[in-house]
Amino acid sequence: MERAVLLLAVLLCGTLGAMAREHATIRPGEPWLDNRGQQIQAHGGGILQLGKLYYWFGEDRSPSNDPAMRYVACYSSTDLAHWHYRGQALALANPEGPERDFVLERPKVFYNAKTQRFVMYFHLDDRHYKLARVGIAVSDTVDGPYKYVRSFRPLGQESRDIGQFVDDDGSAYLIFESRPTHGFFIAKLSDDAMSVEKQMSLVHAPLEGGALVHLNGLYYAVGSHMTGWRPNPDVYATAPSLSGPWTEFRDIAPPEANTYGAQSTMLLKVAGTRATTVIFMADIWRPQQLWDSRYLWMPLEIRNGSLHLPAPQPWTLNVKTGEATLEHK
Ligand code: DGJ
Repeated sequence: MERAVLLLAVLLCGTLGAMAREHATIRPGEPWLDNRGQQIQAHGGGILQLGKLYYWFGEDRSPSNDPAMRYVACYSSTDLAHWHYRGQALALANPEGPERDFVLERPKVFYNAKTQRFVMYFHLDDRHYKLARVGIAVSDTVDGPYKYVRSFRPLGQESRDIGQFVDDDGSAYLIFESRPTHGFFIAKLSDDAMSVEKQMSLVHAPLEGGALVHLNGLYYAVGSHMTGWRPNPDVYATAPSLSGPWTEFRDIAPPEANTYGAQSTMLLKVAGTRATTVIFMADIWRPQQLWDSRYLWMPLEIRNGSLHLPAPQPWTLNVKTGEATLEHK
């Protein structure tokens, strides 16, 4: 009898635990703690989905880091709300010179099925942001350690903020902002993801934090204006194909809201059994203490070519059904 009660209790806990994980609450702007109780260090980040697991990579700005190195942290999750720290996937000393001060920003990881390797792209720069290159590092395992390979200017262009996009057919693209062209490029990666091969679009809008999603036959591109670490009103445009034509850019939220203090980093599509939710992933930067920068993740309202970012508030996501529920509907 006692054993039966115990078994029932164990089963109940398991079911409740699974339900809690499926209906996970995301709280924009609040400190987001990992399984160790530490604030997640995945700034300017990106998500890679492998089966049921999501991996979140981003800039690790922990004050305890060696100031002469730059780090990319990796976390995993089944529900996009509870994150397990997997370690520092990349630890890099300046690969371009002896200066201790250099920039590694906005890391994004692609899985390449052909080589079965993971390829990390990041913005590599000197402290004056004049180098303007992408760096790449590879690993046989998702959480690294990633080995630095080289840096280059994609398509021969200056490249600062980068974004990642994988289309429904698995093709991989890099988005990169290129100041001299007053715009951002969408470019296809090579078959092995080790280089940037083909220009799809040069969108004539000088936007940072570039992100893309493909939904119901339409591509949506989101980005921010260039105001350093300070927030500004993010905008979006749409196109029937990655080569355009792109519409004019429109505000994603009331412009006076200034994207609620955040800047885009990625658009994540969660296609479930009942619904598809597109998550606007953004950073609320704190330039004086970058480690304490916060995250603003909200489900977007997307309908027939229009895109809207609702006011930040706690919301729950069911990754199985794809349904998102806002606390203040
Ligand atoms: C805006 C970019 O989006 C960030 O990634 C970072 O490079 C800051 N500028 C630096 O000012």
